[in-house]
Amino acid sequence: MDYTNERVLVMKIIRVRDAKEGGRKAFDIMNEEIKKGAVQVLGLATGSTPISLYEEIVTSSLDLSDKISINLDEYVGLSEESPQSYHYFMKEHLFAAKPFKKSYIPDGLATDEAAECQRYDQVIKENPIDLQILGIGKNGHIGFNEPGTSFTKKTHKVALTESTIEANKRFFDKAEDVPIYAYSMGIASIMKSKQIILMAYGDGKVDAVSKMVDGPVTTEVPASILQQHPNVILIVDEAAAAGLA
Ligand code: GLP
Repeated sequence: MDYTNERVLVMKIIRVRDAKEGGRKAFDIMNEEIKKGAVQVLGLATGSTPISLYEEIVTSSLDLSDKISINLDEYVGLSEESPQSYHYFMKEHLFAAKPFKKSYIPDGLATDEAAECQRYDQVIKENPIDLQILGIGKNGHIGFNEPGTSFTKKTHKVALTESTIEANKRFFDKAEDVPIYAYSMGIASIMKSKQIILMAYGDGKVDAVSKMVDGPVTTEVPASILQQHPNVILIVDEAAAAGLA
């Protein structure tokens, strides 16, 4: 489905040299917003992209113990003790050093999948996200909302695409170990966040970044819907920005 006739806003783009500088910029923006009292609930992402931001947070004096965090996604079938789970990732990169008052992540081991999605939607409803951190997949996915996902989706179980399994296999011993399903916050919920910071680094993201910013708003490039969000900041390094108009 094409959404080109909808209102398209101009995204704010910050160009940085590399992920290190990008993490610092993202941290400065987040820190300012927190100081202003504008952030009670932080939406968090996994993957290699937000690591430099989390490093900045961990080495800062920022106290998050009165804040709430809500993560985007989790692999179906992995427990929080599994080193490849997003739960584990968050503990390792952020929560161990900077605990929140409460942190929410979908439960990869939930036995009732529909109930887990409903539970997560309720969490998001009760804790509206003030600032959402995002990365982007090579195919333009955000969270685990793969191409073709309706923009109206809330939390759902996703069948991961070949390209995402291929991209994420670096975190596993072999491609066969990568779970083929995940729970993901839906695009409708991401779009409700008051503010979004999306970071993209490296030449592997050139295509996704250029389609997200300059291409038509289409479910084939999930991140392109962000053109219709009123408050998005993109932090891109030179390599990822190479295809921008
Ligand atoms: C995964 C995550 C996304 C992330 C993407 C890109 O699919 N579910 O939230 O944005 O990977 O990962 P990376 O930052 O490692 O390139």
